[in-house]
Amino acid sequence: MKKILVIHGPNLNLLGTREPAVYGRVTLVKINQMLKAQAKKDKVVLVIKQSNHEGEIVDLIGNAGKNKFQGILINPAAYTHTSVAVRDAIAACGLIVVEVHLSNIYSREEFRHKSLISPVAKGTIMGFGAKSYSLGLSAILDLIEVK
Ligand code: DQA
Repeated sequence: MKKILVIHGPNLNLLGTREPAVYGRVTLVKINQMLKAQAKKDKVVLVIKQSNHEGEIVDLIGNAGKNKFQGILINPAAYTHTSVAVRDAIAACGLIVVEVHLSNIYSREEFRHKSLISPVAKGTIMGFGAKSYSLGLSAILDLIEVK
């Protein structure tokens, strides 16, 4: 059985009302429903977490192997650009990690152009709104082999 952890970083709980010109009107609840429906079709166990706290995200990643996850789909949100701790947790976890963003970070402010996460992720999908998540989940599922 494939088991995937989805992590939404800070402020993504506000989707729907947060800067709709950038992120659209889709809520996090909707994104999670879409991911669950996608996972159900493939008989995948999906555990979804949202946190505004860096240390909590580090713990989720650090415990993912022990908790029998084979892959992590993560939108690190603002921590993409700032968090060496999240980057190091990903580098250490030994799991397939796919980074996703709703927006194209390279078409935005310059401070968003640097991702500390991309060099340690298997790959990054961005710029497709909520669709970035479903593309990311498909990519992880293609890569994971169930032992
Ligand atoms: C984001 C892009 C980040 O720069 C920003 O801080 C976010 C959301 C995205 O999904 O487009 O919170 O990760």
